[in-house]
Amino acid sequence: MRIGVLGTGDMAAALGGAWARAGHEVFVGGRNAAAAETLAGQIGAAGHGTPAQAAGYGQAVLLAVPAGAAPALAREHAEALAGRTVVDCTNPLDPGPGGVMLMTGAGESVAGLIGTAAPGAHVVKAFNLAHASMWAHPAGAFGAIPPAVPFCADDPGAAGHVTELITGMGWSPMPAGGLDRAAYVEATAAFVIGVWWAGGSPALAFPEPPRDA
Ligand SMILES: NC(=O)c1ccc[n+]([C@@H]2O[C@H](COP(=O)([O-])OP(=O)(O)OC[C@H]3O[C@@H](n4cnc5c(N)ncnc54)[C@H](OP(=O)(O)O)[C@@H]3O)[C@@H](O)[C@H]2O)c1
Repeated sequence: MRIGVLGTGDMAAALGGAWARAGHEVFVGGRNAAAAETLAGQIGAAGHGTPAQAAGYGQAVLLAVPAGAAPALAREHAEALAGRTVVDCTNPLDPGPGGVMLMTGAGESVAGLIGTAAPGAHVVKAFNLAHASMWAHPAGAFGAIPPAVPFCADDPGAAGHVTELITGMGWSPMPAGGLDRAAYVEATAAFVIGVWWAGGSPALAFPEPPRDA
């Protein structure tokens, strides 16, 4: 798959690198040209250039920028993003007095705001729950039961693209409903990161009852 990556930070490096290792053609687009060139070299990308070039590069586009910047960036490149799968990995979080706080309003998600800003784009919420360092593990590193990547998508083609990206990394796709469910995945990040920062292990909070109970 051809994938444009907007951003040159930790998530651009982690996910862009994992996808390049999986054999995808990755194009790094950064507002800092030198950073885009450096990252492209580090991860073995097929090319590098501006955010506009990345937005118009492939079947899929990753927005690896701060949550506060993502909707405006989508609006700026709405024409180029139309018809493409736009992967939103952002977390709209702020450190608050009582722990990590959501920056969005009730029921609102960054993924939804991106969809409104770029109405022709097929937005998918995904990859926001695990730390960037986790995507560096080679496919197969997690044994017989790989960890899951929950994703929210309305468009079946976009769901197919993100499923291919997740399985190629050796992770397991976890469909989590349409884009109207993205607010829950973003709120889950606030919970998970808050517990982790406080020294806890959030994964231990989700034991499953037997299905036939
Ligand atoms: N790091 C993690 O473990 C992790 C995990 C899950 C989700 N996330 C989410 O993923 C997103 C990216 O995180 P990150 O850790 O990769 O951040 P980062 O390392 O700070 O990188 C952010 C990137 O966004 C670019 N950027 C900022 N504002 C921009 C704008 N207006 N237009 C174009 N590019 C802009 C920055 O460019 P400059 O260098 O030029 O400023 C930089 O390349 C965030 O929303 C974060 O919440 C992060």
